[in-house]
Amino acid sequence: MPDRAPALPALAIEPHPARVSDADRADRIADPGFGRIFTDHMASAVWNTEQGWHDARITPRVPLQIDPATSVLHYAQEIFEGMKAYRTADGAMALFRPQENARRFNASARRMAMPEIPEALFLEAVRQVVATDADWFPGVPGGALYIRPFMFSSDVRLGVRPASEYRFLVIVSPVGNYFRGDPTAIKLWVSRNYVRAAPGGTGEAKCGGNYAGSLVAQAEAIERGCDQVVYLDAIERKWVEELGGMNLFFVMDDGTLVTPPLGGTILPGITRDSLITIARDEGLTVREERYGIDQWRADAASGRLVESFACGTAAVVTPVGEVRDGDSVFTIGSGGPGQLTQRLRQRLVDIQYGRAPDRHNWVESIG
Ligand code: PLP
Ligand code: COI
Repeated sequence: MPDRAPALPALAIEPHPARVSDADRADRIADPGFGRIFTDHMASAVWNTEQGWHDARITPRVPLQIDPATSVLHYAQEIFEGMKAYRTADGAMALFRPQENARRFNASARRMAMPEIPEALFLEAVRQVVATDADWFPGVPGGALYIRPFMFSSDVRLGVRPASEYRFLVIVSPVGNYFRGDPTAIKLWVSRNYVRAAPGGTGEAKCGGNYAGSLVAQAEAIERGCDQVVYLDAIERKWVEELGGMNLFFVMDDGTLVTPPLGGTILPGITRDSLITIARDEGLTVREERYGIDQWRADAASGRLVESFACGTAAVVTPVGEVRDGDSVFTIGSGGPGQLTQRLRQRLVDIQYGRAPDRHNWVESIG
């Protein structure tokens, strides 16, 4: 769908009349967890068939009033992004590869028959809401502002068809670690009953429906004492694809990294892409190739596989300690964080927090 706005609308700013007090804010960000607390403001814009994108503004973060027949509530035409703002070593704030989020958002929009948003509007909305709420930055280790841009169909109509009106919003959540209790390594549950995505489906789009469909498997994982679900391919039920909210890497005993290839059913993670680049910069070999669940188990047992890790904006780089498949369990390496996993994590966060040279121009200062 074409973007009908001829020029970039400036974001009007409506400051909050009663921001959370300094003391209350300090209390809330002292132990933020993940996605539990939110800042004072949000960004929003509207698209309709007559005007294209318009009414872009920063406003107080308030509940939305929507009609019960609003189409997203029925047919889930919704997409989102996940990105972070970091407080860098020099005290400034920075975004990490935000253009990639804007591009992926528009790729998701195309898949879901939604209007694309001008990248400049997406980026400006993100920058301005973060700059407005910069004092919500959590000082905890690994703390960041998690930014959630999203768009949904807002037609009040029950026919199944692309909507004629959409709303775009950006909300911000001060966060610490995604996994509660800050585990040194996570446990994974291999889903044999459910798949996440099939060829021709929506697996590579970041749409809410993908996550709705994953919750029953995630509940199984939690019941088994695991943190995340490993999904296998939908056809052969054999190839490891990704986790419910993260991509996966395997580290071999010769230092080679393997990660499943993007083929339409996997979310093209920006962390995944960054780690491939960082690893190759170090002279490591990274192979984007299919890796079977049986091979993973056999290689973990033989010692050919020494480490595995999950990665994503929320998860950063998180070691995998154990994989549960039905009644059997296999351990990765020593069951704790592996050396290469820790090194790559450190390299990535050092760039994100401005402690290491930014060779690829990934970091954008704001505020
Ligand atoms: N895979 C899924 C299903 C995700 O939800 C995410 C998180 O956004 C990722 C992978 C990692 O993507 P990124 O590194 O861009 O955050
Ligand atoms: C992210 O990493 O940004 C995601 O959207 C994944 C989700 C598990 C929070």
